[in-house]
Amino acid sequence: MTVPCPSPCNVLLLGTGGREHAIAWKLRQSPRLGTLWVEPSANAGLLALGRPCPEPISTREAFRLNRWCDREQIHLVVIGPEGPLAEGYADLLAEGERRVFGPSREASRLEWDKAFAKNLMRSASVPTAEGKSFTSLDAAIAYASVREEPCVVKASGLAAGKGVVVCETKEQAVEAVRDAMERKVFGDAGRTVVIEERLEGPELSVMALVDGRTIWVLDPCQDHKRVGEGDVGPNTGGMGAFCPVPAADDALLRIVERDVLVPIVDALRREEIEYRGVLYAGLMLTPGGPKVLEFNCRFGDPETQPLMTRLQGDLLEILWRTASGSLDEASITFDPRAAVATVVCAEGYPGATKTGDRIEGIDAAEACGGPGEQVVVFHAGTTTDPSAGPGTAVTRGGRVLTVTALAGDLRRARDLSREAASKIRFPGAFFRRDLAAKVLGETAPPAARPGSTRRRAERVRAAGAG
Ligand code: AMP
Ligand code: GLY
Repeated sequence: MTVPCPSPCNVLLLGTGGREHAIAWKLRQSPRLGTLWVEPSANAGLLALGRPCPEPISTREAFRLNRWCDREQIHLVVIGPEGPLAEGYADLLAEGERRVFGPSREASRLEWDKAFAKNLMRSASVPTAEGKSFTSLDAAIAYASVREEPCVVKASGLAAGKGVVVCETKEQAVEAVRDAMERKVFGDAGRTVVIEERLEGPELSVMALVDGRTIWVLDPCQDHKRVGEGDVGPNTGGMGAFCPVPAADDALLRIVERDVLVPIVDALRREEIEYRGVLYAGLMLTPGGPKVLEFNCRFGDPETQPLMTRLQGDLLEILWRTASGSLDEASITFDPRAAVATVVCAEGYPGATKTGDRIEGIDAAEACGGPGEQVVVFHAGTTTDPSAGPGTAVTRGGRVLTVTALAGDLRRARDLSREAASKIRFPGAFFRRDLAAKVLGETAPPAARPGSTRRRAERVRAAGAG
């Protein structure tokens, strides 16, 4: 029997970053939302939208957290990031009538164990790069050093989007294997590595809601993984994203649903694992059709930011229905406008960054745009400035803010997002100015304009390429 979404519905949202700020922003638009609780260590934007949960968010304290959820009558727990999924929060917090949006630990293995995901894809004939998994350093080195074609070396475990090295040469591949398995730069995540063929083509992020039976494919997004303009430099968690993607039409999405999403959910089911939550397929559109680079078991970051600004309807009800198995009755539509999110980063990202710098210009960024346009600044690596009081923000991470613009078409949304991002001020702030350039047919990044932001971007690019 379908259990309707309670009204009011109290929600605990786990996660502290930009994706979660966008989710919270959209949840706040729901007429059903009761109290929204967030983690005490949430960013400044999230803390402005929700009450900090007083209990420690720790699996060791799961008993206390559960009792607190009972006392506060939490109806729905929404898990944003992969960490808590891998730690099994979905299993720990689904008690009684309480629902959890996010797959179980077993189901989220698709993300936290790339070797497992690779095997499952193979068994379900899901198109993906040819590859092999290794737990032995010597075997991995032997394999990497005889491959003639360029390859990609991946830490099998969770590495905050940084555990993938796209290699040009055998020597680079061997170094990448040594980094992961011998020097342990990704910690335990690199105990197993996957070495796979290097694919070519544009990338696409397809996220779908899955309630165990029904799969609902959301509008596709495109991320920008490399730190530098022109797609150079090291991989990052994501430097900017847009939604929808002009080339990803319904026909392509039907192929992704038929060849990727349905077979993988079925393959899990054959192992008696039910998938509930959002399933993210990171794809490369190769001449031979779409192929899977990775699965994530959560909303993408920064893809969620443009996605949420376009989503129409009641996100709370949609998440509730996904968690309780009645997605077939949901109503999900998207604003016809395009959305582009520019990630404003702190100097040094994706390496170590300085923290504690005062952020200015958020109001000015949100004031950009004309009629029928909107800019929303989502916080990511920020925290409130204790000395300056509520409403202020200082930097606390590499990806600091996501400046998201909605406008009539992709080019205008990108220009608006870029203009708004340039209003953000803190020492060393930089961002990519060439988002969507490839799909818009812009061959070179736009000419440099004077200003510190641009110079920083170039410095990082040079560092990354070197
Ligand atoms: P992943 O975390 O597996 O999505 O990898 C991060 C990024 O590395 C992807 O978004 C791609 O840009 C790149 N990548 C991963 N796997 C491959 C592959 N097999 N061929 C080419 N690029 C890849
Ligand atoms: N933007 C890529 C990810 O969320 O993994």
